[in-house]
Amino acid sequence: MRKENPRRPEGPVRLQTLLARAGVASRRRAERMIEAGRVAVNGRVVRTLGTKADPACDAVTVDGEPLPPVETPVYYLLYKPVGVLSTMKDQRGRPTVADLLEDIPQRVYPVGRLDADTDGLLVVTNDGAVAQAILHPRHEVTKTYRALVAGHPSRQTMARLRRGVVLSDGPTAPARARIIRRGPDETWIELTLTEGRKHQVKRMCQAVGHPVRRLRRTAIEFLTLEGLASGEVRRLRQAEIRRLRALRAPPTG
Ligand code: URA
Repeated sequence: MRKENPRRPEGPVRLQTLLARAGVASRRRAERMIEAGRVAVNGRVVRTLGTKADPACDAVTVDGEPLPPVETPVYYLLYKPVGVLSTMKDQRGRPTVADLLEDIPQRVYPVGRLDADTDGLLVVTNDGAVAQAILHPRHEVTKTYRALVAGHPSRQTMARLRRGVVLSDGPTAPARARIIRRGPDETWIELTLTEGRKHQVKRMCQAVGHPVRRLRRTAIEFLTLEGLASGEVRRLRQAEIRRLRALRAPPTG
């Protein structure tokens, strides 16, 4: 959320950016809301991505409700436990991360998803630009996982995980992969990815013949689980926020 220069009127801004800044949804989700016809400008439903509106003079609504005023951006880290969904609502009443974020007054949401049976690190914010920077593969933000896999992956298998594995949605990008500890019939490995496809770690390990038995995300770029117990939330420090915001700049070269 750009509040650095409140005196300069900014002019028209893409609708998905306005929605993200208002904390309604990440930019990508906002695009889906636009396509679904949930967003209107001055009373007219807009379904075309890329349509702009001027926050100073246009009335933007989502499901008929005006956008909430832009909130102060806030940033938290959450250690999501196993069995908790990384959504803010569940139709079937299962536990969600919203239950762990009740004390946060702003309308925050988790950046990206972890499977219900995966635990570990989630960034929680209302800053759509930072959420987008973490999620978009272009920024190559690293996500590190520890996976307990069946069997003992060979050196060749670890090299395959590093080079890229062909999945149903295409080959995976180069990754880091190393063995942490071998057990009698299973192995803890660490994988560091720059992508965030659905079930990616499980699918990669399955593809090389070593199904995942347990999975934990231990780091997102420089942010780690250190000092957090399962279910705990902490605010990001100023230095961490500065580094996260710097991720929004596209990589050079
Ligand atoms: N990869 C997976 O398979 N599951 C997750 O929750 C995260 C990454």
